[in-house]
Amino acid sequence: MNQPHGGVLVNRIATGARKTELENKAKSLFQLVIEDRYAADIEMIANGAFSPLTGFMNKADAEGTIEKMTLSNGLLWGIPILLPSGDQHDHITIGAEIALIEKSSGNVLAVMKVEEKFELDLMNLTQKCFKTTEDKHPGVKAVLSGGSKFISGPLEMINRPTRHDQIDDKYFMDPSETRAEFAKRNWKTIVAFQTRNPIHRAHEYLIKCAQEIVDGALIHPIVGETKPDDIPAPIRMRCYEALINGYFNPDNTMVSALPTAMRYAGPREAINHTMIRKNYGCTHMIVGRDHAGVGTYYGTYEAQEMMDSVADRTGMTILKFENTFFCKETEGMASSKTAPKNATQVSLSGTKVREMLSNGERPPAEFSRAEVADILIEWATAKASVTA
Ligand code: ADX
Repeated sequence: MNQPHGGVLVNRIATGARKTELENKAKSLFQLVIEDRYAADIEMIANGAFSPLTGFMNKADAEGTIEKMTLSNGLLWGIPILLPSGDQHDHITIGAEIALIEKSSGNVLAVMKVEEKFELDLMNLTQKCFKTTEDKHPGVKAVLSGGSKFISGPLEMINRPTRHDQIDDKYFMDPSETRAEFAKRNWKTIVAFQTRNPIHRAHEYLIKCAQEIVDGALIHPIVGETKPDDIPAPIRMRCYEALINGYFNPDNTMVSALPTAMRYAGPREAINHTMIRKNYGCTHMIVGRDHAGVGTYYGTYEAQEMMDSVADRTGMTILKFENTFFCKETEGMASSKTAPKNATQVSLSGTKVREMLSNGERPPAEFSRAEVADILIEWATAKASVTA
């Protein structure tokens, strides 16, 4: 199993008497109401998924990340983890403790010591991290909507952000818990599979190729905020479960939810995705085609090139995969590396798949397993009847 990024797994979760003390204290503190995507990152900081961060980033760490993909302590980081303070910025005092409140529930999530208030040039941030400043890019849009003023400082989490009630609690495992589970299973080498989509045959193939060379696989879907046309996380969780039960060996396959937002930042996000999985104890990371990409903002293999360029700084083995597809001639999954020349590929566009699902049609078995297709059809047809 791997060491955390920076060597120490951060734990900023207040428990027992400390939790009670902070809960009482929070009542009299300045209350900053935050959007769910930032609330989600409180959990990621507190449970060590963002180790070595102990709070939202200060200006030096944010600028180091934006300009050089490097924190002040020299460690690699891809996209800054920031807390915008919006129209409350001027009411927040440096040196004060404040309570961070989840907007959707009104719950107090954390107490934070404000060490710094600062501004960033969002055009520079988005251009460097997302390679575009266009607000039609979903990650850029989220950054721009937060505004350019930020606060930073260490935090302690009192309560977890509200979890989606349709995702079973058993799927939420902290890095300390995945590590304990890997140890229990005696897994020394563990491959992480990042995903924001229901697993189709190409995904399944990548994971299985990786499983041939490691002890176990952690299928680790992002269940935080995704763009509106992505499939909702509770539906995807059902798909992962169906697939693992029917098509994987559960002895060496685990699924667990990663509660942070997708940034859709392609190469830069591949770095964050990799370092996060290192914190969960993984040793290997799958980076396929257009990893964490959206639209045409990034080249097909740009995330892989990025991971090559920082290979000596990750402490992870990156498993790079070419575009894979079902090959008719060989009747199996393949890529240009393994398929015969002029292979006939079964490939479907996302739009075509969505159209088929909404019409109650299963995409071809070469593309998606029937059990997964049926879960998606049930969801898509219910959605279509609500919006009709
Ligand atoms: S992502 O935004 O999380 O990257 P997705 O869930 O579609 O999107 O992909 C998960 C992982 O599988 C990523 O590493 C991606 O590069 C890889 N991947 C998806 N489809 C293919 C494919 N057909 N061939 C190779 N790699 C793929």
